[in-house]
Amino acid sequence: MPNATETLQADAQGFARAAAIWRAGGLVAFPTETVYGLGADAANDRAVAAIFEAKERPRFNPLIVHVDSAERARDFVDWSDAAEIVASAFWPGPLTLVLPLRQGARVSPLVTADLPTLAVRVPAHPVARALLAEFGGPVAAPSANPSGRISPTEATHVLAGLDGRIAAVVDGGACPVGVESTILGLAGDPELLRPGGVPVEVLEAALGTPVAQRGEADALTAPGQMRSHYAPGARVRLNATERQAGEAMLGFGAVAGDLSLSETGDLVEAAANLFHHLHALDATGAAGIAVAPIPERGLGRAINDRLRRAAAPRD
Ligand code: TXA
Ligand code: MG
Repeated sequence: MPNATETLQADAQGFARAAAIWRAGGLVAFPTETVYGLGADAANDRAVAAIFEAKERPRFNPLIVHVDSAERARDFVDWSDAAEIVASAFWPGPLTLVLPLRQGARVSPLVTADLPTLAVRVPAHPVARALLAEFGGPVAAPSANPSGRISPTEATHVLAGLDGRIAAVVDGGACPVGVESTILGLAGDPELLRPGGVPVEVLEAALGTPVAQRGEADALTAPGQMRSHYAPGARVRLNATERQAGEAMLGFGAVAGDLSLSETGDLVEAAANLFHHLHALDATGAAGIAVAPIPERGLGRAINDRLRRAAAPRD
């Protein structure tokens, strides 16, 4: 974890430094027109795991991937007519689209929380655009605040919450919109997943169709909240120190297994490996997966949250 967080200026030198940190797997907060995002290379498992650690998020909710153009977005999601309509009307801008994750897209499964959909957006802020162009790849970024705090709209807000926990913040002044992007689900019928910078009536007018809005009760079934959200075929048994007959074993620290989340007990490494290893053990055809105990601290809480969902009874 970095000791001091660098404040970078919004100039060519600052952009080059930020992109270099991203390439090295580090975290850089940056302004968008909505709020400051906490960015990392979306294809780098450990870098994405470090986002959750820095924010102290207790669960792996899926993250938004930021790219510099609609053409680039199409590398990561299955495009549709509806996507084309709203993207040409509102990108770059405060609109996020949730679309089916494209097969073979190079994005860490931690970004989507292993969902079959991906949230993607093309921000309008000139500093965000310059950074994305300089980096040249997809940047995963939640709002740059510690979990449970309000979203930052100035570099000083970012530092108030995350100083010493991230490598750098690019200071681009105050965010002009000041609320998060609107999230429009387009994996099925159009659905408002979060109100934000683009009003829903404006989206409906562009699409020429109504956009379904979730009620309060529905919000609890949002993908990241679902109890049995990632369900391997194999039965998952938690807090196991040894395997039973027919089980594959997922180790951690001193508890060995067919695969280990982290032999050294490093929780960032464990988070980075979590979905990859569960899929790999599931693919062996074992009847069950026994999982070593993971400490309930730091990123361990998010790992355990996801493991409990994987172990939850299926409907
Ligand atoms: O304005 C914004 O959207 C800011 C800036 C930095 O771009 N970002 C932001 O990210 O607000 P975050 O992580 O604070 O909120 C992202 C929301 C979460 O509520 C997450 O559950 C939802 O997007 N989300 C991400 N991927 C999703 C998916 N595949 N399906 C449904 N919801 C998704
Ligand atoms: Mg947020």
